[in-house]
Amino acid sequence: GITRHYKFNIQMQNMTRLCQTKSIVTVNGQFPGPRIIAREGDRLVIKVVNHVQYNVTIHWHGVRQLRSGWADGPAYITQCPIQTGQSYVYNFTITGQRGTLFWHAHISWLRVTLYGPIVILPKKGVAYPFPQPFKEIPILFGEWWKADTETIISKALQTGGAPNISDAYTINGLPGLFYNCSAKDTFKLKVKPGKTYLLRLVNAALNDELFFSIANHNLTVVEVDAVYVKPFKTNTILITPGQTTNVRLKTKHFHPNATFLMAARPYATGPAAFDNSTTTGILEYHQSSNNTNKSSKFPLLNPKLPIFNDTTFATSFAKKIRSLANAKFPANVPKKVDKRFFFTVGLGLNPCPKNQTCQGPNNTKLAASVNNVSFVQPNVALLQSHFFNQSKGVYTTDFPINPPFKFNYTGNPPTNIFVTTGTKVVVLPFNTSVELVMQDTSIISAESHPLHLHGFNFFVVGQGFGNYNSSKDTANFNLVDPAERNTVGVPSGGWVAIRFLADNPGVWFMHCHLEVHTSWGLKMAWMVMDGKGPKQKLPPPPADLPKC
Ligand code: C2O
Repeated sequence: GITRHYKFNIQMQNMTRLCQTKSIVTVNGQFPGPRIIAREGDRLVIKVVNHVQYNVTIHWHGVRQLRSGWADGPAYITQCPIQTGQSYVYNFTITGQRGTLFWHAHISWLRVTLYGPIVILPKKGVAYPFPQPFKEIPILFGEWWKADTETIISKALQTGGAPNISDAYTINGLPGLFYNCSAKDTFKLKVKPGKTYLLRLVNAALNDELFFSIANHNLTVVEVDAVYVKPFKTNTILITPGQTTNVRLKTKHFHPNATFLMAARPYATGPAAFDNSTTTGILEYHQSSNNTNKSSKFPLLNPKLPIFNDTTFATSFAKKIRSLANAKFPANVPKKVDKRFFFTVGLGLNPCPKNQTCQGPNNTKLAASVNNVSFVQPNVALLQSHFFNQSKGVYTTDFPINPPFKFNYTGNPPTNIFVTTGTKVVVLPFNTSVELVMQDTSIISAESHPLHLHGFNFFVVGQGFGNYNSSKDTANFNLVDPAERNTVGVPSGGWVAIRFLADNPGVWFMHCHLEVHTSWGLKMAWMVMDGKGPKQKLPPPPADLPKC
């Protein structure tokens, strides 16, 4: 591979959306941010310079970061933030991955405007396992907020109530036709008839899983989270925050200027209010550049999308995603398991501090937890304190491998739904083969949680509704061609089982990719120890690693 250099200047930029101009945090003044392009095997050297008043870090979401954990990016997990006026060079190699991923800020809620696509092409001379597309188009879903999200989330955490919701969803930063003042701010994809396009879909929204569809067109899913899958056709895709999906779009023989809407709107199962609006883009046919017959304008056709809480669709869509699992692209599912973990994921409550009124139920603060531990962000980076053997006062290694008490996870919640708090990690010896079942709880409400694991891809070996039952459910695990990915939806009122091999030394964050749940504490970290071999150790940090 070769080395590719990028420079990310974090700077403020005025942007106008929904009839209102606001100053937003950007990379190089662009929104969405610049595209990173590389081939499998290339090294990326990205210098991030912080010119804004906020502390910043950037995460290369889905990049495995084999022995380069210092470049992963989550604030206070692998690095201290880059402070105003400071810079940090992220230096890592793309190993064994090709497809679509994305980068985003990984501190507070700054990723609302700090995100962009990562396109990883196969090695030179290596073809896709499907016909070469005519064109490749990144399509990033996001959110637009009229208010300042940093203020919104810090207020919400103080008062304990639910934060506000976004004002629009966006496609490549544009809200689309259905919003005020947005007719011009509509993403337009001009296509030729009878061609195949590869759409690289990324859900970079803060808090919402999304359905996406294009009127009168099928989509063929060929890759998720930078892993090829067995191709399947669908009208609609579901994509959670943190997921990426490549689809092939075959254009038909419509007339020049025929137009069709593409649309995305939320899949939501929780109790909270959510932004139930629809973002749209336009698919427009044209013959060739010298034939633009403006007189034959066809009306826009609307796609059909599932209703907001269509868990049946979500489940059947998830089940269709299967690894290629062939000789060229094998599914290396761990067959034996060294350690089993059972994590409950869901909401809970924190007590209200004395002399304060709180906006959670019965004067409490809303919280979220894994095995009832609501993660407390340390004030130095875990990876640094681990590497330099300075865990004291920073983290403890007693993260519970099972829930602290049993209850009917999908039935009536227990009477005490207060969480415990702490900065706890799970220590894994190098090369531990892990099976993890994540069970949604009905505490406050059943809800789908897109869980994201840093540093690894995992195999989704099983999923189901109700309470996970190890003696019955394990028998049905798919160890042949399960989806391999980095973000998976824990079904609302159900569970998902994943397996991964802990072959990457470092500290790896795992959290719900709904930003509000992360803020409430639905996060934890795995600490993978060095192995004995020279290629099984995490190298020391780069000299410019930011200090806290
Ligand atoms: Cu895309 Cu830890 O996040």
